[in-house]
Order: sequence, then structure tokens, then C-alpha cells
Amino acid sequence: MRTIDWVDGAVEIIDQTALPTVLRMLRLSTVEELVDAVRRLAVRGAPALGVAGAMGVALAAASGGSVARTAQLVHVIETARPTAVNLARGARRAAAQLPHGFDAVLAEALAVRDEEIASSVAMAKRGADLFAELCGPNPRLLTHCNTGGLACVTGGTALGVVVELHRRGALGGVIASETRPLLQGARLTAWELSQAGIPFRVAVDGAGPFLMARGEVDAVVLGADRVCANGDVVNKIGTYAHALGAKAAGIPFVVVAPESTVDNDTPTGAAVEIEDRDGAEVAGDLPAVNPAFDVTPHELVTAVVTDQRVLRFN
Ligand code: MRU
Repeated sequence: MRTIDWVDGAVEIIDQTALPTVLRMLRLSTVEELVDAVRRLAVRGAPALGVAGAMGVALAAASGGSVARTAQLVHVIETARPTAVNLARGARRAAAQLPHGFDAVLAEALAVRDEEIASSVAMAKRGADLFAELCGPNPRLLTHCNTGGLACVTGGTALGVVVELHRRGALGGVIASETRPLLQGARLTAWELSQAGIPFRVAVDGAGPFLMARGEVDAVVLGADRVCANGDVVNKIGTYAHALGAKAAGIPFVVVAPESTVDNDTPTGAAVEIEDRDGAEVAGDLPAVNPAFDVTPHELVTAVVTDQRVLRFN
């Protein structure tokens, strides 16, 4: 099952807000519906957002408005969420085909989808090979947020590596960090691991560094919303704390992300706009601060595995 696809003239997504209780599809027929789904995280995860951005432009092209109106819609899509580079990138790729008509725009959107599917396969193999080299047999891994097929189209980034290690009989265990406040780890990663028949445990986010210090984790593996030119990694809030924990424990900290998430136009993490979400997600009526992402300096990163290469930093 694909997380996002183009079906009979509209975008179909798995509604990630309903999981793990209900597995249901949503059909998005207008740009407004698509942008709302992106903002509510009904579709989420950097690669999936890239496909959503591109398919959103196909919806804009299909709506048959003026050139100015279509450009306005493209802007709304690009900026629906600011941090994952894939969203604007996917939208711009499809928008570059607007002068050639709807069919060309849709073809580009489908190409973005297909490239993400292929990237997942390549990352899983390369990442699993790297863990064999870094950790030896049967590493016990900790992962954060959700980086499986739900965050992509199928397959996954970091979770794709976990699944591939399991397939090889070379996984010593996996801990899913729950990922407050929206619980992408406890809801989505746990659901995907259950579906794949992979044993796992969920831990509160704050337990990660302690579990590493106590020798219960051999490496951290997670994804990225943007990898900057200098290797700084922007990812789900809580990633930086896990990186500090990994550094203190002396274990590898590995980021798995497709080339579509590597942004050489952004020099460092300091240049990235971090999405601040509604405080109500954190603490109901209490005053709250809710950055959805953080920046992990490349000094704390062992390697970034993409679909084409391994970038080593430490
Ligand atoms: O706010 P989200 O759920 O879209 O955040 C997603 C993440 O931070 C993922 O870790 C990242 O996109 C990598 S997914 C392959």
C-alpha cells in the first residue's frame, strides 16, 4: 500500500492522523484539501511531503485557473510547512513543467513519486551494509519519529534500514522513541514495526540518552527533513538530544535520507526555518513552546546515508 499516490485525477493518502486506531484513505481533490492535509500532518515525513508538493501542483494545474492564480496556489503549497526541503522542492519541480501543460506536470509528479520509491530501496541496502561495518552483527538500534513507508511512499529511510537488517537476520533489537507531542514514534513507527512482524519497544523521548549511557543501544538511526551543505541535520524535535546522548556514550549516530533531502543551497542548520506549531499540541491550554524540529550539528553525526552515497563526518 502506498502512503500517497495519484488515483483517478486526485491525490490519495493514508490518513496518518487516524493511525494506529484506523487505517483509512483520504482523497484530496483540491489544492486547499491537500494543503490542509499537509498542515494537519495527515500526510507527513520529508519524502512523502515532496510527493505531496509535486502532486499538489498537478491539482493546481488541473483546476484550470489563470497563470497568476496557479502561481499563487504553487506558493501556498511550497510554504504549507517550512522545514522539510522536499515539499518546496517537489512543488518547484512540478511547477517548472506548468508551461508544458497538465500532462507534463503530472508526469513530473509521478517521477518524484517513483524516485522516492527507488531511493528507499537503495538506502535500505546501503544503510544495512554500513551498520554491519560500524557495529558488527545484530546491533540494538534506537530510532526517533517515523521514517518508514508512511513518511515516504513505500519502504522508508531509517526504518527501511531497520527492516532490511531484520530481513537479513541481523537486527539485535529496536527501540522507538515515542516522539512527543504527536507521537510519530509510538503511533506510526510502532504500527509499522508491528505490521512487519519486528519486535520493538517504545521509550519516552527523554529515556534515549540514558538507555545509551546504560549500554542498551549500539547505535542511533533516524531520518532528516533537511541535510544542509555542511552536514548539519534538521530533523524532528528530540533528535539533537539523541545525538548528544550518542556522542556521550560513544556510539554511532546515523542519518538516513534521500538525496532529495540534501540541500546544498542551505549552508548550515542556522539558516533553516524551524516550524513552530500550536502550543496546544504540547500542553492543552497551558502556555507552551512547540518547535517541531531541531538542528543537530554535523560534528555529532557519524554518517549520512543517502540513496547514492555515504557521507562520513566522524
Ligand atoms: O513533522 P513530521 O512528522 O513531518 O516530521 C517528520 C520527521 O521529522 C522525519 O524524521 C523526517 O521527515 C524523516 S522521514 C523519512
